[in-house]
Amino acid sequence: MKKIAVIGAGTMGNGIAHVFAQSGFSVALIDVSAEQLQKAIATIGKNFDRQVAKGAVTEEQKAAALGNITTFTAMEEGVKDAELVVEAATENVELKLTIFRQLDGLAPEGCILATNTSSISITRIAAVTKRPELVIGMHFMNPVPVMKLVEIINGYATKPEVSESIVTLSKQLGKIPCVVNDYPGFIANRILMPMINEAIYSLYEGVAGVEEIDTVMKLGMAHPMGPLQLADFIGLDVCLSILRVLHDGFGNPKYAPCPLLVNMVTAKKLGVKSGEGFYTYT
Ligand code: CAA
Repeated sequence: MKKIAVIGAGTMGNGIAHVFAQSGFSVALIDVSAEQLQKAIATIGKNFDRQVAKGAVTEEQKAAALGNITTFTAMEEGVKDAELVVEAATENVELKLTIFRQLDGLAPEGCILATNTSSISITRIAAVTKRPELVIGMHFMNPVPVMKLVEIINGYATKPEVSESIVTLSKQLGKIPCVVNDYPGFIANRILMPMINEAIYSLYEGVAGVEEIDTVMKLGMAHPMGPLQLADFIGLDVCLSILRVLHDGFGNPKYAPCPLLVNMVTAKKLGVKSGEGFYTYT
């Protein structure tokens, strides 16, 4: 594969475009908003500067990688000769289903359609296309240029050869792929979100304060961020929506979101992106 299209130029989309471009792929970065595309290119440039500053990437490699990215506001233009499309739009079921219906009509025959969804069923997304055997989950972690994992999710109909080619591709990006099956939360969020929810319950029940909870997990378990700081980083709305997917999907009360999380999201305290969550950000 040489030509990749990435749909959505938010945090995940720009990170995904960054790593493909850095590995020499030609990347079409697509977003409905020209302004968002401009911001994404500026962010990718800044993130390359961090890598240049620590000597991981040269100025020439940075320039070559940026030269590998072309931006598009029209999906039909961006995907027209793609061999793989990675969708990284907002985590909203209806939006993703609409995008996949469109993509199925616009992407070349044989093009693999991947989604970076963190919790929406791959099988459900695949079912709105006429090529469910070519639809797969390719779940990158934030920040994409730094995190080694790609969680690859096989939908019910995904062909084994498609899964194998995404494993090979992930290795070409310098990532470590892990293949899992399509059940609620896959593996990453099935395990991460109950931990975050339990941390929020511990705060809600007054067992300990924000700093104490995070310090116990950072210093006691060698996590780079405590669970409350990580929840702020991921976005409290995203955490809530993933917990709801787990709760609905398994029908088990152990996944019920903590009422404090529900209240914070209702009050629009969403973490880093809104300036306030368990911590405040300026
Ligand atoms: N692009 C390129 N490089 C970046 C970067 C980016 N966007 N962000 C950070 N870096 C680099 C920095 O340059 C730095 O490099 P060196 O150590 O080589 O100098 C390194 O990453 C560490 O960054 P900082 O020094 O700025 O900060 P830090 O040491 O506090 O680390 C962190 C920041 C990497 C985010 C770290 O705190 C961490 O690993 N946190 C946990 C992240 C995590 O769990 N992510 C998964 C979230 S879940 C998810 O994404 C999926 C989901 O479905 C919800």
